[in-house]
Amino acid sequence: MDAICMKDLKKAMKKHMDESRYEHTLGVMYTCASLAMRYEYDMEKAMLAGLMHDCAKCMPNAKKLKMAEKNHLEITDLERKNPFMLHAKLGELLAKKKYDIDDEEILSAIRWHTTGRPAMNLLDKIVYVSDYIEPKRDKAPNLAEIRKLAFIDLDQALLRILEDTLGYLGDSTDDIDSMTKKTYDYYKEQK
Ligand SMILES: [Fe+2]
Ligand SMILES: [Fe+2]
Repeated sequence: MDAICMKDLKKAMKKHMDESRYEHTLGVMYTCASLAMRYEYDMEKAMLAGLMHDCAKCMPNAKKLKMAEKNHLEITDLERKNPFMLHAKLGELLAKKKYDIDDEEILSAIRWHTTGRPAMNLLDKIVYVSDYIEPKRDKAPNLAEIRKLAFIDLDQALLRILEDTLGYLGDSTDDIDSMTKKTYDYYKEQK
């Protein structure tokens, strides 16, 4: 994970993403670095996870489904209906197979960045929270508060994000990955 590797991966992300997704990616990468400073995590690893978290996002939906099928990934009905939801699973796959990332923590952070999971490790949390609070984000409710909270208590910020995500999508749990609810229940219990 040297500097050259980061440089090449940055180039690859720029090439495969539209401009706004690339801007978001850089925002997540630097927010990951900031949270790594705050919570004393390896900064290079955090930046790499941030850089790669959406590496499968800009693939056409049909290709997402095809790749998931080809690699025998489990596809839920919800994912079949909304193939963009596969980008975390596919991101882990691409990071491993195409970009030669073998760090298990980085792969896990990519895998769980959309839903979280119970008992997340520190990097999982850093990437999940950064994805939500990076500077280009502007639509989510309570952003200013959550941004501040992220640097005070990461678990509290995580819980607030899960809460808002579930609230934002309303009671129609139809469009929510069941893992988001599981993650929420887990962290609510921890409180
Ligand atoms: Fe994503
Ligand atoms: Fe993202």
